[in-house]
Amino acid sequence: MKLPNRLRGCVQGLAVTVAIHGLGGVAAESANPTPATVPGYEFRPGSIDGTGKWFMGREIAHYMSHQGAMWLEREEREEEEQPNELIRLLDLKPGQSVADIGAGSGYFTWRMAHKVAPAGRVFANDLQPEMLTILRTNMGRHQATNVVAVQGSSTNVNLPAASLDLALLVDVYHECDHPKEIIASLCEALKDGGRLVLVEYRGEDRWIPIKPLHKMTADQVVREMSIHPLAQVSTNRLSRQHVLIFRRMDRAHGSKARL
Ligand SMILES: C[S@@+](CC[C@H](N)C(=O)[O-])C[C@H]1O[C@@H](n2cnc3c(N)ncnc32)[C@H](O)[C@@H]1O
Repeated sequence: MKLPNRLRGCVQGLAVTVAIHGLGGVAAESANPTPATVPGYEFRPGSIDGTGKWFMGREIAHYMSHQGAMWLEREEREEEEQPNELIRLLDLKPGQSVADIGAGSGYFTWRMAHKVAPAGRVFANDLQPEMLTILRTNMGRHQATNVVAVQGSSTNVNLPAASLDLALLVDVYHECDHPKEIIASLCEALKDGGRLVLVEYRGEDRWIPIKPLHKMTADQVVREMSIHPLAQVSTNRLSRQHVLIFRRMDRAHGSKARL
């Protein structure tokens, strides 16, 4: 289903379709330095459709309304974004406990659920209860019985401590209105060595037809993650998106962001 340009703008102010091709992996296991102080938020004018709230030099985008949920389920997305390629890259194993943060309609949730079944489970987290209602219906359609829907807040994902093998955020981080608190709460929820996977449209590529606030450069993502107890593992490229993978440092060794 194609949305008219006008509606696309409203839906998320962006989230256009994406075709995922190769998965060119660049491995780079490195521990990020933790700065002595964590930057705060600034409030100043920015884009005409932006929030006016800034973090580490980036204006935070508005989040996508549940009224656009059908667009997340459009048929062309399969061809345009090749979600199965992304799932393959995650290398999920049966029995793992994983989370789809900002799960929306559950487009990735059921795919993850099938991979970790039967003993594993997926926490499907979203800010909007309406999204979780839609997601529950979609999990039924896809026979994904090992999904637990969890409503998060702007500052907390509300997931059990040290419980996750992996947390996935597809097209979500750039629109978190408290990004440092959300990632800090995710670091609490990840097991030592658990993976955090951020998928964002590439801000470096002007040709990608997504509004600038809804894209991020890899450098910006890495800079923002550097305040957390995370080590960068790899940067992969889909046709229009980055797939940035980090590992939660061991609690015995990693230091935490002071928020
Ligand atoms: C563009 S949609 C992407 C949905 C899904 N990841 C996908 O790719 O189909 C972004 C979703 O992130 C959610 N979201 C935004 N900020 C959030 C936060 N702080 N915590 C949880 N969910 C959030 C929104 O409610 C929305 O459902």
